Amino acid sequence: MKKQFVSAIIFGVTVVSGFVACTPEDVQPRRRVPVLPAEVYDYATPVTPTFFEPFGDSAINNHVATLGRVLFYDQQLSANNRVSCGSCHRQQFGFADNKGFSPGFENGLTGRNTQTIVNTGTQVGFFWDLREEILDHMVLQPIANHVEMGLDDTLLMENRVSSIEYYQPLFENAFGTNEVTTHKIGLALAQFVKSIISVSTKYDEGATAMFNQGVTGNINHRPFPNFTDQENFGKHVFFLKFPCSQCHGGVNLDGSLSAPKNIGLDVDYSDDGMPGTDFLGRVRDGFFKTPSLRNVQFTAPYMHDGRFQTLEEVIEFYDAGIQPHPLLSEELRWREQGGLTFEHLGPVIPFDQVPTDGRVLPVKMFMTGEEKAALVAFLKTLTDYQTLTDPKFSDPFQVVE
Ligand code: HEC
Ligand code: HEC
Repeated sequence: MKKQFVSAIIFGVTVVSGFVACTPEDVQPRRRVPVLPAEVYDYATPVTPTFFEPFGDSAINNHVATLGRVLFYDQQLSANNRVSCGSCHRQQFGFADNKGFSPGFENGLTGRNTQTIVNTGTQVGFFWDLREEILDHMVLQPIANHVEMGLDDTLLMENRVSSIEYYQPLFENAFGTNEVTTHKIGLALAQFVKSIISVSTKYDEGATAMFNQGVTGNINHRPFPNFTDQENFGKHVFFLKFPCSQCHGGVNLDGSLSAPKNIGLDVDYSDDGMPGTDFLGRVRDGFFKTPSLRNVQFTAPYMHDGRFQTLEEVIEFYDAGIQPHPLLSEELRWREQGGLTFEHLGPVIPFDQVPTDGRVLPVKMFMTGEEKAALVAFLKTLTDYQTLTDPKFSDPFQVVE
């Protein structure tokens, strides 16, 4: 019954704003209102093929996530009513942006490249520098962030949301009362964001097929039945020949299983990344979150500063462009015999060229053209067309004349 109530109220808003727009002297910007399905979308049923661990305690409520979807796409949550989470985290681009830096509420640019936000429930830290651990807290940060959305007064935000008619039934359905609090806004945004799940890539299908066939051991080291020869070759070089999967690991091919890394983009980073010291007590510099490679085909440009436009450029960088930063991650250095070496990855640098004077020597991978093309083909098996087009994750707002 509540669902019908929501639709009725939203319909009511539509009529009222239509009426307002008829007045010639009306100088209000055009109204946008959310148009929601009569029956709430299902965000709660876990979509977890065998391949996935359950998403911990992230139980999702359909009405809370629906409220979160509206908040996510609502430009009225920004200081100038022009920017929403969805203006930067765009569904068709894997919830990243196609710009190096994204314009915020006053056309100021974000200091970093917009991150993709899929499978956040499985992530251990957020932002490029991992400064926030808890999703419910972090989703409020962009609203307050001056570049992004600029609404830094929580009371102001609560009042603004309370004053918008279409929120009353949405809060009522989600929480049993239409009282608006910052905590509830954060929770609803977090639930919607957590519900943005990607489990339907060609890679997932291959992994599931392997499980169903009862294949044991590391399935990533075996060819997938649904892959082309080139995709399987790319998977092989990603997981076995080059060190990619030592950082891009787990179900999201991200850094959930590893610490933030310096990959030697520069010798002198203009953005220091994660502050503090590393496990050896060295002051960190250039340490960034290892991003998920899900939907990477559509999340260009790449890296924390969006410096690379194409996957080919990224691969050229890993092949021969890694810089000798003093804190370059071990996985990307040539190491001396006896230490943890790339033995299983094949000889990438002749042993007689290993420096003995403590210099940092970035690994050179000597990739062949065939390997580079296969890596790109493999990375494209991580595209999830379901997530990129699912209406339940789409912008519900429509402009009312
Ligand atoms: C103006 C563009 C912009 C807007 C608006 C914006 N974001 Fe972001 N988002 C970013 C950028 C840039 C980063 C990376 C920031 C950093 O690392 O310092 C980011 C990071 C994130 C992350 C972390 C992802 C990860 O893997 O660590 C989440 C989650 C997120 N945003 C959710 C939201 C939500 C929810 C909203 C709306 C309340 C929102 N964003 C609004 C640009 C934006
Ligand atoms: C030492 C850990 C490590 C290794 C090894 C590694 N990566 Fe990365 N990768 C990262 C980190 C960290 C970033 C983000 C760096 C930044 O922005 O400063 C990244 C970024 C990327 C990106 C850009 C993603 C985006 O959304 O911006 C791609 C694509 C990528 N890596 C692919 C690969 C491939 C292919 C390999 C193997 C040839 C590889 N990586 C090896 C840690 C690693």
